[in-house]
Amino acid sequence: MNILLLGADARTHCLAWKLNQSKNVDRLYSFPGNPGIFSVSERTDIQDDSFESIYLFCMRKDIDVVVPGPEKYLVEGIYDYLNSKGINVFGPSEEAAKLEGSKAYAKEFMKKYDIPTADFRVFDDYKKMKEYLKKADYPLVIKADGLAAGKGVKVCYEYGEAKSHIKRFKDILSIDGVRGRFVIEEFMLGKEASLLLFVDGENFSQMIYTRDHKRALDNDKGENTGGMGAISNPFINDSIKEYIYQNIVKNTIRGIKEEELEYKGVIYIGIMLDDFKARVVEYNVRFGDPETQVILPLMKNDLGEVIQKTIDKKLDAVELNWYKDEAVCVVLASKGYPAQYEKNKAITIDAEKISS
Ligand code: AMP
Ligand code: GLY
Repeated sequence: MNILLLGADARTHCLAWKLNQSKNVDRLYSFPGNPGIFSVSERTDIQDDSFESIYLFCMRKDIDVVVPGPEKYLVEGIYDYLNSKGINVFGPSEEAAKLEGSKAYAKEFMKKYDIPTADFRVFDDYKKMKEYLKKADYPLVIKADGLAAGKGVKVCYEYGEAKSHIKRFKDILSIDGVRGRFVIEEFMLGKEASLLLFVDGENFSQMIYTRDHKRALDNDKGENTGGMGAISNPFINDSIKEYIYQNIVKNTIRGIKEEELEYKGVIYIGIMLDDFKARVVEYNVRFGDPETQVILPLMKNDLGEVIQKTIDKKLDAVELNWYKDEAVCVVLASKGYPAQYEKNKAITIDAEKISS
């Protein structure tokens, strides 16, 4: 099988590293890639990010499966575009990708399929939302209904904060992909965990639990980010795991089937845990970053084979096996991240310091 991997982030590097070890992969190409990714895969001559350029490359190089790392390609509909031309994509259709691309769609899906989550309201009217926020109980969470590169979600502790956040509406609405709808939801206190599943539309295989740490600075201080690090197998007691399996995992898969969503890839379930409950915070329709960096090094299976079985709708024939070790990932970021920071900056680390 020949694979084209899309992405330029650390998660995509990890996917390339794992696929490079696969007995099922003949040629592994990546675009746009980065120096780390190119150390374990081949560069392409693709000139731009358009689906057409990607398709033409796939035709020239006999690509069997395109594997997108970040959500952008999936939310923009690469699955539908390439499938209609006979090329497989490891991921969801554009409709199914709304589970990540639209907060309101995801919350309505959870409600319809009895998936535990925070109470919520959807607003598309500024005035009505402001009135609601005046009388609401705090803290609460305001979420812009679209991909907003992490800038659309804000936990607000009092009305003044909510008011000044929604005043930024005009700015927020100018971020690409953000529509004029907002979800306001109950604040959930607890610890987060990420659970990723391979799904083929019929069957699923559950990966190990992970936890990412979102605050930018040490000791859980600073802004929320996409994740500054991750650990494998955070402690979660067995009865909560069973609850998650029965209520969250099974109902999510049931929802995908009953909505007839085309989905051959990974679904990422972000879960908030307290001592008694587990509720869904969000869905993502791809591998997590930095969760992938602690999942794949612990996975014994050949990722190329798992991808092939997912595409063939034969995930029921796959048993995932895991090394008994644990893994940790620490993200190094340019000073000021995630607000204002220097880009294209080389960050050097002292390998000896890390190993000691
Ligand atoms: P989301 O994009 O919906 O995952 O939100 C980004 C991050 O905001 C989550 O990973 C949580 O850390 C936090 N968050 C989102 N919704 C809630 C909530 N209802 N209660 C507490 N924290 C939340
Ligand atoms: N670590 C959060 C994400 O991948 O969206």
